Amino acid sequence: MHVLVIGSGAREHALLLALRRDPQVDGLSVAPGNAGTAAVADQYDVDVTSGDAVTALAQRVGADLVVIGPEVPLVLGVADAVRAAGIACFGPTRDAARIEGSKAFAKDVMTAAGVRTAGSEIVDNPAHLDAALDRFGPAAGQRAWVVKDDGLAAGKGVVVSADRDAARAHAAGLLEAGHPVLLESFLDGPEVSLFCVVDGETVVPLLPAQDFKRVGDGDTGPNTGGMGAYTPLPWLSAGMTARIVDEIVKPVASELVRRDCPFSGLLYAGLAITADGPAVVEFNCRFGDPETQAVLALLESPLGQVLLAAATGHLAGIAPLQWRDGSAVTVVLAAENYPGRPRVGDVIAGADRDGVLHAGTARRDDGALVSSGGRVLSVVGTGADLAEARRSAYATIDGIRLPGGHFRRDIGQAAADGAIGLGGQ
Ligand code: GLY
Repeated sequence: MHVLVIGSGAREHALLLALRRDPQVDGLSVAPGNAGTAAVADQYDVDVTSGDAVTALAQRVGADLVVIGPEVPLVLGVADAVRAAGIACFGPTRDAARIEGSKAFAKDVMTAAGVRTAGSEIVDNPAHLDAALDRFGPAAGQRAWVVKDDGLAAGKGVVVSADRDAARAHAAGLLEAGHPVLLESFLDGPEVSLFCVVDGETVVPLLPAQDFKRVGDGDTGPNTGGMGAYTPLPWLSAGMTARIVDEIVKPVASELVRRDCPFSGLLYAGLAITADGPAVVEFNCRFGDPETQAVLALLESPLGQVLLAAATGHLAGIAPLQWRDGSAVTVVLAAENYPGRPRVGDVIAGADRDGVLHAGTARRDDGALVSSGGRVLSVVGTGADLAEARRSAYATIDGIRLPGGHFRRDIGQAAADGAIGLGGQ
């Protein structure tokens, strides 16, 4: 099977490495890729937001399966174009991808499916903003205001703050830019990312993970696309994954079928485990980054066969997924000034090690590896337990040099210390 992977992040690097372990995968291509994926797959520079361009590439390389990593091509309907050409594609249709592309659509689906989620209100008129803010956050007895861009914002459209001025400024800025704003009630409880391979009403969960969205240790500073992750979650009860599947993911998958936009691909449930049980923070229509890098490090089942089964409507027939024992941790090395406008072009030294996945990297004409984006590398460590996986990841990242580069020192620390408090299990 020849697989074409679309995307350029460490998530796609991890997907390619996992696909390469599948004995039925004998060819790999990637577009546009990065300096690390170039060593794993044939690399092509095409416009991945164009359904025509991706389909033409899939035909040119003889792809049996196209796997679309990022949300933007999915929301634009690239998977629809690939399927229309008769090529199997792992990734939802444009209609189903609205579960991530429009938070208003996602809320409507969740309400219809009876799924627990934060109360919310859309504000699209600046004149209504102050009154709406009074109905949320500390003004309404909650810990903080949660202000989101209604559309796609690469994880950076969210502000969670107990400071009304900060919440208001973010909302006002979005409205000024013509973006509707979603105000949400604050969900109190540790967060979980549960990735599910979905084909219509068939749902196959992967290992639960937790990611770290703030840029600084101790969850300080602005939100990012994600600074690290670990899996599995030692503090999560054994039955919680099944409960999330039964109470949340299956009802949403069924509601999408009922609306005639069945989901096929990776449905990512971002959850808070509250005192009342799991509640949805957000849905995404693709693998999460950086959780995927940790989750796939423990996957033993053949990924290509699993994704092909979902893409061709045969997911219900696959064998139960097999996982390695132990833990995996991802730590993201980011460029100077990320999540603001990152400095690029810095030379990276020491990255040629096991467990190093590339994201914002490129080769200069002289062959030097240089930074080319905000999140530059993901370093993955595995071990018998979380403490060992953390030691492995940090030993690797400490050997890498990137001028101005920064990373969090506390990925998985609270869980390894047994310090995650739970109200909801
Ligand atoms: N880990 C956050 C995301 O992928 O959106």
